[in-house]
Amino acid sequence: MADNDRLRDVAEDRDFEIGAAVAAQPLRTDPAYKKILRNEFNYVTAENALKMGPLRPDPGVYDFNDADAVVDYARAHDQSVRAHTLVWHNQTPEWFQEWDYTPEQLEEFTREHVHTAAGRYRDTVDTWDVVNEAVADDGTMRENLWYETFGEEYLDDAFRWANEVAPDTDLYYNDYGADGVNVKSDAIYDLVERMLDRGVPIDGVGLQMHALHEKPGIDSVAENIRRFKDLGLDVEITEMDVAYLPGDDPGDQEARWEKQAEFYRDITEVCLDEGVDTMIVWGVRDSDSWIPNWFENLTGDPLLFDSGNDPKPAYDAIKDTLANYEA
Ligand code: G3I
Repeated sequence: MADNDRLRDVAEDRDFEIGAAVAAQPLRTDPAYKKILRNEFNYVTAENALKMGPLRPDPGVYDFNDADAVVDYARAHDQSVRAHTLVWHNQTPEWFQEWDYTPEQLEEFTREHVHTAAGRYRDTVDTWDVVNEAVADDGTMRENLWYETFGEEYLDDAFRWANEVAPDTDLYYNDYGADGVNVKSDAIYDLVERMLDRGVPIDGVGLQMHALHEKPGIDSVAENIRRFKDLGLDVEITEMDVAYLPGDDPGDQEARWEKQAEFYRDITEVCLDEGVDTMIVWGVRDSDSWIPNWFENLTGDPLLFDSGNDPKPAYDAIKDTLANYEA
């Protein structure tokens, strides 16, 4: 590996997909953002543009502008695209939250939404998060409006509808806080096993890997990946970022970034050990991260590039591991 090798070159040399969550706005306005994105990543996911809220500003109306901007940019730079997400309890349109729907109306709306969004990108998107975060942190099914109306089978319907219009697209269930073996990942394991038993066209499970308040044990992540793969499902790391609470933060930036780089290295090695060929980080630069807006008590530099557009030790750790890994 030459020093000037790009991360995506090293990844492509071993058929690995290294991705980043992308926001539409900097794609339009920020040359430095675009330069990092096209040079260093061979996989992108839309951070918000393909969610129901941004796509459906008003009843019967679709706004694909931001989504198209992300997908078109990726295709123009030979990057695979992961679409996020068709059915999720968060970020639904305001009008939808106030809508006094009947079960029949909700079913028809969801079918039409899945058909329209997944159908539009059937030839340009590689993977969809069909359903996101349907399991609560205690392992019970999350009481969202689809579950309350239809029970667990709302997941089956969503996957079948997506498969009807995009049969060549990989269809995933995606969640957080289930990266290692725990009560939540146990529940997700049982859920996807039931779905497979019901013949649902699910291809894989996305482990978000937001390593924030707690970091999963590396052996536990490996065991978790293996059991999903033993079900015949693929596994991807879909939304990785690494931040620290005051008690875990070494204090000075250099020490924190070295500690952070070790965790990114460990997760990259687990991916290579367990045959996971896709890892996505949830943003391009520290300044693009969602974390400072949501968690004041967490360190705000969770990604591979700093706010000055320079690669961090985490970037080198992933690149070195991909370049030098031997099974
Ligand atoms: O676009 C509107 C803008 O028009 C408005 O002026 C502004 C002020 O309210 O809000 C903007 O929308 C914000 C959107 O991000 C785009 O920036 C929403 O308020 C804000 O809630 C939304 O946050 C996103 C969050 O999901 C919503 O739950 C984060 O960017 C995004 O990183 C985060 O991503 C989630 C994954 O989808 C699922 N897993 C966890 C992950 C982190 O929470």
